[in-house]
Amino acid sequence: MPQTMTAAGAWAALKADAEAAKSRPILSLYAAEPDRLDRLTVDAAGLTLDLSKQPWSAAGVDAAVALARASGVEARRTALFAGEAVNISEDRAALHPALRAPAGSAFFAKGEWVSADVDHVRGAIKAFADAVRSGDTVGATGKPFRNIVHIGIGGSDLGPRLMWQALRPLAPVINLRFASNVDGSDLAAALDGLDPAETLVTLVSKTFTTQETMANGEAARAWLRAALGPGGDAHLLAVSANPKAVAAFGVSPDRLFAFRDWVGGRYSLWSAVGLSCAIALGWDVFQAFLDGGAAMDAHFLEAPLERNAPVLLGMAQVFNRNGMGRRARAVIPYSQRLRFLAPFLQQLEMESNGKRVSATGKPLENMTAPVVFGDPGTNAQHAFFQMLHQGTDVIPLEFIGVAENPEGPPGGHAKLLSNLLAQAEALMIGRSEDDVREELVAKGLDPAAIDELAPQRTFPGNRPSSLIVMDALTPHALGALIALYEHKTFVEGVVWGINSFDQWGVELGKVMANRILPELQGGPRAAHDPSTSAWIERLKRKK
Ligand code: F6P
Repeated sequence: MPQTMTAAGAWAALKADAEAAKSRPILSLYAAEPDRLDRLTVDAAGLTLDLSKQPWSAAGVDAAVALARASGVEARRTALFAGEAVNISEDRAALHPALRAPAGSAFFAKGEWVSADVDHVRGAIKAFADAVRSGDTVGATGKPFRNIVHIGIGGSDLGPRLMWQALRPLAPVINLRFASNVDGSDLAAALDGLDPAETLVTLVSKTFTTQETMANGEAARAWLRAALGPGGDAHLLAVSANPKAVAAFGVSPDRLFAFRDWVGGRYSLWSAVGLSCAIALGWDVFQAFLDGGAAMDAHFLEAPLERNAPVLLGMAQVFNRNGMGRRARAVIPYSQRLRFLAPFLQQLEMESNGKRVSATGKPLENMTAPVVFGDPGTNAQHAFFQMLHQGTDVIPLEFIGVAENPEGPPGGHAKLLSNLLAQAEALMIGRSEDDVREELVAKGLDPAAIDELAPQRTFPGNRPSSLIVMDALTPHALGALIALYEHKTFVEGVVWGINSFDQWGVELGKVMANRILPELQGGPRAAHDPSTSAWIERLKRKK
């Protein structure tokens, strides 16, 4: 049975099926495997996944599941939820499931009971959000807060940004804006037109040392003080795992919402990092979001690997990446509200699994995280789908559908859904050259023109996709979707032998920027490559 295969045997079986898939129409598998659709359609925490348009046969799926098992996915999953130091290079747990577990749960990070602390911070966020929304907590001049400017970057920005765009009311009582980039244009746009007397500024940084966030935080504080005097500081909130740095910055301790080092930045939306969203969306929305994440945790823990959504989604990517040699994956939500999903996943997947050595420092045998990109359908269709249908690279896709959307004119949503289904079908089925030729002959084109045109109008097809559908874009569904992707990324990391929870690859550029900054500001010159030195000279003169 494949389930008892060794990892080497499972890899070999997966690669053999992938080899066969290179010349096998995906469509043919539906006839060959009568239970294919049922077998590859999985319900998880209110989401439905269809993985039947992937190139794997039943044997390939068995091999992929056997590979997950043989790679130790179950044992690593236990270690993750048990709060073991799965982030071994930093000797930390990665216990984001504790943040969305029901109150009164019992999670331990490296043996320390953390659930009481989680519940306490959650209570503080709820109380603060309720007080701001009800007008019990007001600004320095007595005005209620109408705006929040959320300042953070990477994991301290992308999740809240995604959540706000996905769930924001059309006419919010409290508006939420974001500034992440150290490019001054970003904060200028975020503050533009706001009344400081009605504005809260949330500074979100796990380390509270990140250059961009500190620079934007100082500028925002100056903006508050210029209008409100020193009392403006009471409009500052901090979210961080570094209370000392928060105190040194001057944010009052009763305005600090803390989280701990066992919360990874890109896994932190469930923590106090979601504070701005909890205030602007209301606590009930935030709690429903947490519940959706917890429901996906329960599914990931309990469903057999053969029916486990994060496992199957992750293994589909392993099949495409390592079996078929695919270098990228497109994520296309047919929901304008999910337009920040792709940037969020870029950090989640590429920062977690974009690595070339194992968790113990050994070179990896297999290729790891592919490029992830995407944009909402149908916009993406009119931008880059040409390449997805007819380009020389085959790029697997993930379509995300929302069955019902109360927004927009009647009938509009069916148009959106018809496009989603059409794209997935067209990519798989394609259009043969014979079919195209027949049409051109019927149109009366001459043979030379047909020879020229027919190949251009042919669609090779056999381009794989997965489909994830939710009934409606509710807070619960969004929570389930994000937790699905977190666990999918974890499964891939286990199979590839990666520590998915560190990010050493972001450090070098930061160090070098800190070296170059004083030079641009007129300080002494340091040694660089010739191109960099020349540019420092040129850009220094432009300051
Ligand atoms: O530079 C990458 C990174 O360290 C991410 O991992 C993190 O989400 C982001 O910077 C922001 O970090 P912080 O929350 O500490 O400001």
